[in-house]
Amino acid sequence: MNSFENWFCASGFWRYITERKWLPWALEGTDLGEHVLEVGAGPGAATAELARRARSVTSLEYSHDFCVRLQTKVNAASVVQGDASVLPFASQTFTSAIAVLVLHHLRSSDAQDRAFAEVFRVLKPGGIFVALEIQDSWLTRVAHFRSTFVPVLTGGLNVRLCAAGFSNIRVTNRNGGFRVRAERI
Ligand SMILES: C[S@@+](CC[C@H](N)C(=O)[O-])C[C@H]1O[C@@H](n2cnc3c(N)ncnc32)[C@H](O)[C@@H]1O
Repeated sequence: MNSFENWFCASGFWRYITERKWLPWALEGTDLGEHVLEVGAGPGAATAELARRARSVTSLEYSHDFCVRLQTKVNAASVVQGDASVLPFASQTFTSAIAVLVLHHLRSSDAQDRAFAEVFRVLKPGGIFVALEIQDSWLTRVAHFRSTFVPVLTGGLNVRLCAAGFSNIRVTNRNGGFRVRAERI
């Protein structure tokens, strides 16, 4: 991530709109169940709200610095350092998984597909995967200057998530972003 993203994701503003606007929209009609996996938690804008909605939260994060920060800041979650494409969890551990603005940070579309397959693997049958993403635009490209940005195209998502094993896939657009909901039957 670049300095702008580091600052923005750790800001009170981002946490506020994540809690008040983006999570309620992403989780509309979705029960997270007992144990939610937060993929790519960053500084934790979504973590406390997820902890209010599920009995148990495990936050996976690639960056060691973010893991340390998260561990000291949010008591409600158990923090694990790791890679979304090779999840360090047993199969069928979680009732739900969520990735907020994370997929475009994975280094290739192959890595994204591996993450989809890994999320499917660690979900229990009946588990739900939810993701929030941004569209590809000049603005999002500028915001990711000197950062990783592998845009996820909504057009191919259904096929990619199906290939990972998911069913009942729904993609909904809104104001330059989109939400994804997919089920492990
Ligand atoms: C734009 S931030 C979003 C953070 C948080 N979800 C939020 O909404 O504030 C993307 C996060 O994904 C993390 N990330 C990047 N690659 C990852 C990977 N392979 N596995 C897990 N997390 C990763 C980054 O370290 C960063 O914290």
